[in-house]
Amino acid sequence: MKSTIKKTVDRIVMRRPDDWHVHMRDGDMLSRVVGYTAKQFGRAIIMPNLAVPITTVALARDYRIRINAAVSEQNFTPLMTCYLTDTVDAGEIEQGFKSDVFTACKLYPANATTNSSHGVTDINNITSALEVMQRIGMPLLVHGEVTDSDVDIFDREAVFIDQIMTKIIVDFPALKIVFEHITTKEAVDFVKVSGSNIAATITPHHLVYNRSAIFKGGINPHLYCLPIAKRERHRLALRRAAISGSPKFFLGTDSAPHTIENKQSACGCAGVFNAPYAMESYAQTFEEENALHKLEGFASQFGPQFYGLEPNTQKIVLERANTVVPAMLDIMDTQIVPFHAGETLGWKLAGLA
Ligand code: DOR
Ligand code: ZN
Repeated sequence: MKSTIKKTVDRIVMRRPDDWHVHMRDGDMLSRVVGYTAKQFGRAIIMPNLAVPITTVALARDYRIRINAAVSEQNFTPLMTCYLTDTVDAGEIEQGFKSDVFTACKLYPANATTNSSHGVTDINNITSALEVMQRIGMPLLVHGEVTDSDVDIFDREAVFIDQIMTKIIVDFPALKIVFEHITTKEAVDFVKVSGSNIAATITPHHLVYNRSAIFKGGINPHLYCLPIAKRERHRLALRRAAISGSPKFFLGTDSAPHTIENKQSACGCAGVFNAPYAMESYAQTFEEENALHKLEGFASQFGPQFYGLEPNTQKIVLERANTVVPAMLDIMDTQIVPFHAGETLGWKLAGLA
């Protein structure tokens, strides 16, 4: 499919994008954040790491009802995922996939990140689930970091590739895998040389800043997320992958809202809340790379292609205009600091075409 975006433009009309990785949370937080995603994206893969993780078809069905009730926009479809645990029931996964409740399963190594304490302690514990998923064509979404505290935090993705990813692709050669929110050149290279059943999502923030930025002028907890941003050479590798036109790399924001108190704390939570200006951020990055004509493939075509879905038929409009990102957004009785807080972006989402 050819991109319809011209190389130098002031107005982009493109197929409506999808977000292949987002944290929507629940309750009041859900109702306050879901609109940011729904106004841009036609569909979104909803992460299952709630305080009570989404491990069953019934929990996913109920959560989907709560998301649909919270969203006022028309034509937004939440795609649900199943949180894998050591005791996951492969029959439940198959039933959820075949009844159109589960789109994919999420592998969190136990204690790798927020609400992952119920995650998988040993990849061998989910063999039967992976066998079923391979057979039925259900994607595995991977948080690719080892959790061994002896491994330096900046090396955990690369070590995960060596220790776990390589084993999974040997043992399950036909399994569809999305290496989520990749942060390293090693991950880019791994995905590139693997089969067409292996793809990756790339966040807006990992395209914008490197690890030094987190500490520039003092520690900035709002840039802390997991996997943590790496060296500049890794950021540049991610940018090259995103604009490469390879269908293996597509959009997944990993938008992960936490209140200001939970970020600016002695034990601050991991997560960047980038949903409010996600498309503006990606457009700015692609423009900086002289690759606006590659944005539609990355944002709107390669994701559905990988998941075996049709691209959206609706269109969105992005206009060249200054967008001033607020320093913080009022949410519930508190605030959340969005990605690009206080900055001015060069694009504005004008709405649906
Ligand atoms: O930074 C992150 N935040 N990384 C994750 O893997 C989880 C997420 C969250 O749920 O807050
Ligand atoms: Zn995530």
